Amino acid sequence: MNTAPVLEVCGLSGGYREKNVFGGRGKEQEVLHDVSFTLYRGEILGLVGESGTGKTTLCRLILGLQPPSAGTVRIMPPPDRPGAPPQMIFQDPASALNPAFSVRRILEEPLKLAKVPAAGREAKILEMLALTGMDPECLSRQPAQLSGGQRQRVCIAAALLAEPTLLLADEPVSALDVTVQAQVLSLLRSLRQKLELSMLFISHDLGVVARLCDRVLVMKDGRIVEQGEIGSVFQNPQHPYTQRLLADSL
Ligand SMILES: Nc1ncnc2c1ncn2[C@@H]1O[C@H](COP(=O)(O)OP(=O)(O)OP(=O)(O)O)[C@@H](O)[C@H]1O
Ligand SMILES: [Mg+2]
Repeated sequence: MNTAPVLEVCGLSGGYREKNVFGGRGKEQEVLHDVSFTLYRGEILGLVGESGTGKTTLCRLILGLQPPSAGTVRIMPPPDRPGAPPQMIFQDPASALNPAFSVRRILEEPLKLAKVPAAGREAKILEMLALTGMDPECLSRQPAQLSGGQRQRVCIAAALLAEPTLLLADEPVSALDVTVQAQVLSLLRSLRQKLELSMLFISHDLGVVARLCDRVLVMKDGRIVEQGEIGSVFQNPQHPYTQRLLADSL
């Protein structure tokens, strides 16, 4: 395991801002409390915990979409790939993709943002299609003309074309059937190796986390109650909540 950290979250608290009755800015609601962890280069870190505990909120704070009320998020890109912002993949690929755009246009967007000249874009897109196991025939289609698994591959391809070192994967396989789930998971695993990607991988499915992740964070009511190597946490859970999660998943 490489020991260079790419993400350091320290004493992070925060949540979301409520809207007032007029639709304006309302009260700040705290969801996360004093969350601390480190994600290392090339590592897949699992994040598990029940619905509403604050997993997606944590991603929003990491991405800077919402300011924290306390604590810090430090993103440390490696010197050979500086500057690429973290990318996120979502549970529902259909809503993450612009329905009016062709796949080609969707994949061109991150390249335009990264100021890749037009002449160099097609080659990068074709290379990424090959890497994510998609047929170039898909390029002229719109999201509605793809299967769910293909849509998620497009989301992964678009995220990776930005050349991030950090990927936040928020339930990326939950909406897919088991066979396609397995394909997308093995894709993520191989991309981690090829691209030395670091990933925060959120899932309700402890089996998936056990197969994919190196370490795991267990969150309850907006706090990390346990973290450690997958083998030791899953075989010898210390916190009663982790013990219950594991018992429920058998
Ligand atoms: N913009 C918002 N307005 C109102 N409530 C919100 C908002 N964002 C988050 N919440 C609330 O904050 C809590 C944490 O939400 P979050 O989406 O982070 O949970 P989660 O752990 O990702 O859940 P799930 O596993 O269901 O995706 C929930 O109670 C949610 O309803
Ligand atoms: Mg969520």
